[in-house]
Amino acid sequence: MKITKFLLTLCACLSCTLWLHAQRNGMPWPDTDGHHINAHGGNVIKYGDRYYWYGENRPDRGFTTEVGIEVYSSTDLRQWKDEGCALAVTEEPGHDIERGCIMERPKVVYNARTKKFVMLFHLELKGRGYEAARVAFAVSDTPTGPFRFLRSTRLHAGKWPFDMSRAQRKAAMATDANAWKDWWTPEWRKETEKGMYLWRDFQGGQMSRDMTVFIDDNGKAYHITSSQENLTLLVSELTPDYLDFTGKYNTIAPGGQNEAPTLLKHGGRYWLICSGCTGWAPNAARMFVSKSIWGPWTALDSPFTGSDATLYPDATDQPRTFPASKTFGAQGTYILDLGDVQYFMADVWNPSHLRRSLHLWLPITYDKEGTPVIRWTEMPFQK
Ligand code: DGJ
Repeated sequence: MKITKFLLTLCACLSCTLWLHAQRNGMPWPDTDGHHINAHGGNVIKYGDRYYWYGENRPDRGFTTEVGIEVYSSTDLRQWKDEGCALAVTEEPGHDIERGCIMERPKVVYNARTKKFVMLFHLELKGRGYEAARVAFAVSDTPTGPFRFLRSTRLHAGKWPFDMSRAQRKAAMATDANAWKDWWTPEWRKETEKGMYLWRDFQGGQMSRDMTVFIDDNGKAYHITSSQENLTLLVSELTPDYLDFTGKYNTIAPGGQNEAPTLLKHGGRYWLICSGCTGWAPNAARMFVSKSIWGPWTALDSPFTGSDATLYPDATDQPRTFPASKTFGAQGTYILDLGDVQYFMADVWNPSHLRRSLHLWLPITYDKEGTPVIRWTEMPFQK
């Protein structure tokens, strides 16, 4: 008994000591005030000589948005200063971003033409669970905001994916989502692959949940999102000011049930790394490659490999181990491409205390064919 107590105290002390290390994967990551960074599901951009990290400000209990989107700044990627709320919820009843809505997976991009910072995020309306499934836009003149909320919307009402043939449209129009009480049967799958949910939402607009934004070498921006009841990803072109959709879009892996999309261009190819759909619980990552953002996309094995990860979710918690086949306990949120190194940024969700969810930054390496490989790395910034 005494030995167990001693070992537990030792573990707790060790965790506390490790807590002080600002940039160790698998441990809380304190900001310059000593608080674990509360920016989840987000992204990092560089502007001037600083980096900005945007993410969901999560409460300790519950999962609705009570504050908004938080922003942190850094000069070295290791030490982050909390710059406050970049986009705040409002107290106005019925407003799209009324306190108690759900803001998830914010991505901020800088538009060099307009010199504006544009934020896109997944928005769920207050009191409606995850059924609204909208994308929202906000804009700011400065990286720390405050961002001005513009609007939230479903996607592409009345528009077909740009490469869908007449025959494929006809097949989609012959489906009826209301006719299926039992999901996951082979017949139901066939119908979803024909575009059953695309057709169901054709008039009102397509759903948009987990999302990322990707800027190509030519400055064109694309929104990639989990749509059609999280069954199919959509890739959509944004207008040159990044404040709207051009209307050109396509599907990726119809019926594949992918979420948490992240995108990287490397070696002239587009690499899409995403997760399966298991709520807050980790699952095996999936990877797709394409020569064009518009596909066709080829499914590959998960890039995660090698030895297990040991995570210390909290200073007083017992360590937990997760294998590569469970994405080291995490779910991706963004690929930060710094030119000489690319980081796969991910969240280790803690659904009972979302605020305490850990951040993993895992450097991406490449095999001899140039395919991304992601291994457990405790010290992401050590060469
Ligand atoms: C998984 C998603 O990736 C998260 O962003 C969040 O929406 C949770 N599901 C909610 O269960």
